[in-house]
Amino acid sequence: MSAPDPNTTTASAPSTDVAPETAEADVTTGLNDLLADATVFYQKVRHYHWNVTGPHFFTLHEEFEALYTFWNDAIDEIAEQVRSRGDRPVHTLADVLDLASLEEDPSTPAAEEMVEVVIADLAALDEQVQQLAERAEEADDADGAATVLEDLSEQIEEDRWMLRAWLNDL
Ligand SMILES: [Fe+2]
Repeated sequence: MSAPDPNTTTASAPSTDVAPETAEADVTTGLNDLLADATVFYQKVRHYHWNVTGPHFFTLHEEFEALYTFWNDAIDEIAEQVRSRGDRPVHTLADVLDLASLEEDPSTPAAEEMVEVVIADLAALDEQVQQLAERAEEADDADGAATVLEDLSEQIEEDRWMLRAWLNDL
């Protein structure tokens, strides 16, 4: 016969709320997932910047540079949010690929297709950022992750809109 489970000896009040420390840890984990996806996206946009060809070369070469430059800063901000919560930002490429939901692009698509991929990735990133911002707001958001994430979402939406407008004008 096994020893009595100590958890069954005391009645605990039913709770509908997630404990604050659990919610905070959840946000930290989410920030590391986002960091991994942002890193995959950053590298993909660098690849497109380097390898875009065709009549839109000059426009897209510059646009992709502006985009990965923005994400370079965003990645740093997300990583520092993880650090400020006492955790380690994901940093090896193996761990990045393990955590990320976005996929690398080993191919070199046509210029318009590159823009389609970037728009789709931005949509996925934005959904992740918005969900995480909500979770941060619900948790004890002492480090202000929600504000960082809301600003990031705003910029993502602007970039998506600009890229979609550019594609529609072709
Ligand atoms: Fe360059």
